[in-house]
Amino acid sequence: MEPNRNRPRVAADGPLDSTVMSLLADRVELLPWDATDGTTGPLDGLYTYGHPTVDAAMLDRLPGVRVVSNYGVGVDHIDVPAATARGILVGNTPGVLDGATADMGFALLLATARRLVEGDRYARSAAFTRYDPGYMLGREVHGSTLGIVGMGRIGEKIARRALGFDMTVLYHNRRPRPEIESALDLRYVGFEELLGMSDFVVLCVPLTDQTRGLINASSLKQMKPSAVLVNIARGPVVVTGDLLDALRTGTIAAAGLDVTDPEPLPRDHPLLSLENVVISPHLGSATDRTRLRMAEGSVANLIAGLAGHPLPSPVSTLPPERS
Ligand code: DGY
Repeated sequence: MEPNRNRPRVAADGPLDSTVMSLLADRVELLPWDATDGTTGPLDGLYTYGHPTVDAAMLDRLPGVRVVSNYGVGVDHIDVPAATARGILVGNTPGVLDGATADMGFALLLATARRLVEGDRYARSAAFTRYDPGYMLGREVHGSTLGIVGMGRIGEKIARRALGFDMTVLYHNRRPRPEIESALDLRYVGFEELLGMSDFVVLCVPLTDQTRGLINASSLKQMKPSAVLVNIARGPVVVTGDLLDALRTGTIAAAGLDVTDPEPLPRDHPLLSLENVVISPHLGSATDRTRLRMAEGSVANLIAGLAGHPLPSPVSTLPPERS
């Protein structure tokens, strides 16, 4: 049957957020992701939320696609150069989720340092019969040294929160950011220096060829044995097997992970049975207000791209001859 061409046809990875569904109702014809195999007619746009992969082969199969809109910031699942080379716009939702993600980073830092999840399990168990001042001693957060790897919008928000905990804050970034150093009392240091000096290391970098495997056996060895690693970036920034070894052997003390590689971990993965690990299921931006802004921003990008207009939040811009 000939597809209905009154509305632009968009393949979306589901399940879709209810706000996105209502914002798109009557404006686009939504199709399941399977439609990207190209066998059910042409597509005008793609809508993703951090996955699945959008690569050059898919884009070649779908020559009508004008825009790929992602619900979220990380676009490591999209081959952005391939899209740009084909005149396809890619949009994401930066700026709307920094506060929520930084809150989550701090929640994981505190939960891991103060053994909150382990304590919760203990408090519910029959083993808890009386208060004991000697049990479950954690690591002091206030007054300790925090190392932030990646000083973008989220890293900056983490630094602001650390001020309230009287922490000494070091950071490493592709380029120093002197404009915020004095305002936030930050110090730029080399990556290895940061690892060696920090009590807490928080990862806030995008996943790129440069950051994949950044935390591996050799970088973990440079951290203090008492250190806590927090990953709110992307799972593959950390080599999972190396982290597991480091946590088992005491190379570092503990880890708080909002993201893992793979994600989710297989249910029998040994990392899931370690007491010195707190894991959350990729909840960085998962608050009601942030989700609303992500929905609105991603839909605005999609609608603009379908109409041939510049995106409100483009990941990259097309060269003039393609725009
Ligand atoms: C992001 O925005 O990249 C978050 O990880 C949610 O996908």
